[in-house]
Amino acid sequence: MRKGLLFGLAALAASASLPLAGPAVAAEEGPALPKLEWSFDGPFGTYDRQSLQRGLQVYREVCSSCHGLKYVAFRNLADLGYSEDEIKAFAAEYTVTDGPDDDGEMFERPGAASDYFPAPFPNEKAAAAANSGAVPPDLSLMAKARAGGADHIHGILTGYEDLVPDAVLQSIFEHETMKNEEKYEADLAEYNDKLEAYNDKVEAGEQARRPLEPVQPQPIESIEDLGLAEVSNFNAYFPGYGIAMAQPLYEDGVAYADGTPATIDQMAADVSHFLMWAAEPKLEDRKGAGIKVLIFLVVFTGVLYAAKRKVWKDVH
Ligand code: HEC
Repeated sequence: MRKGLLFGLAALAASASLPLAGPAVAAEEGPALPKLEWSFDGPFGTYDRQSLQRGLQVYREVCSSCHGLKYVAFRNLADLGYSEDEIKAFAAEYTVTDGPDDDGEMFERPGAASDYFPAPFPNEKAAAAANSGAVPPDLSLMAKARAGGADHIHGILTGYEDLVPDAVLQSIFEHETMKNEEKYEADLAEYNDKLEAYNDKVEAGEQARRPLEPVQPQPIESIEDLGLAEVSNFNAYFPGYGIAMAQPLYEDGVAYADGTPATIDQMAADVSHFLMWAAEPKLEDRKGAGIKVLIFLVVFTGVLYAAKRKVWKDVH
């Protein structure tokens, strides 16, 4: 009998620990994304308010000139520990378009707490024109939209040529060289088949066109060999390695209010943390509810077991 209960509890414990094992983070191809330890990971995860505030600072001072955050209202910043007055002051720094007024005209006014972060460009065309043809995506849901989540954003921000370790560059070069060679082998096999068919036709006196022999690829030994588009910047963690966004973070790009040294890695981690909150502001409530359900299930299992023993007491 006791065994049955133990087994039940063990199964429950096993299912409870499942969320601990997050999905393995690996880019579809190329080097695996570096996996950071986030305070919001795991079943008891919570956001780190200090990091969120620093991340907001990075977003406002660096990213907001190109990227919008259209699903985040200024009043939501109360979650980060800001007072109503502080939030009003943040909002008032932005100009929002409102209207139409009684004359049918749109007008501009300072932002209020109930406004959402305004988009930096009036429309997609203007956004593309200012960014060599690529539209900077809205970042509200970015942390949930990409496999890897906050690690993806952190990876992109630290994946530029001068920031990634040499070993990562080398692994990309090897990977791409191998991919080219595999393609060459496949092309060569196809070519040989075609050549055979061609020779047969020629022998039979039929008209035929000689197939083109594939060119053996050169090994890839540098970023130039990758042949990225001219407007692209190399990025180890962006699919295809070429991203239109120029490296946005530089050492001491912001002066943190809490005195934390503003290294590139620190700013990248803070802004990724902040964007995770932007994409899932209710994460803590969700995890809290999950834990409550699990506790309930454990207690309820005990109650059921006790009841069963009582009911069957005289039979056994
Ligand atoms: C000068 C403009 C500019 C600034 C500043 C800028 N970005 Fe970007 N960002 C872009 C553009 C343009 C793209 C689209 C790139 C592409 O599609 O190749 C982009 C793309 C991205 C992506 C998408 C990557 C993906 O997986 O699709 C993320 C994430 C991102 N930026 C985050 C940030 C963060 C965080 C900051 C602030 C630290 C920032 N950006 C600052 C212009 C900018």
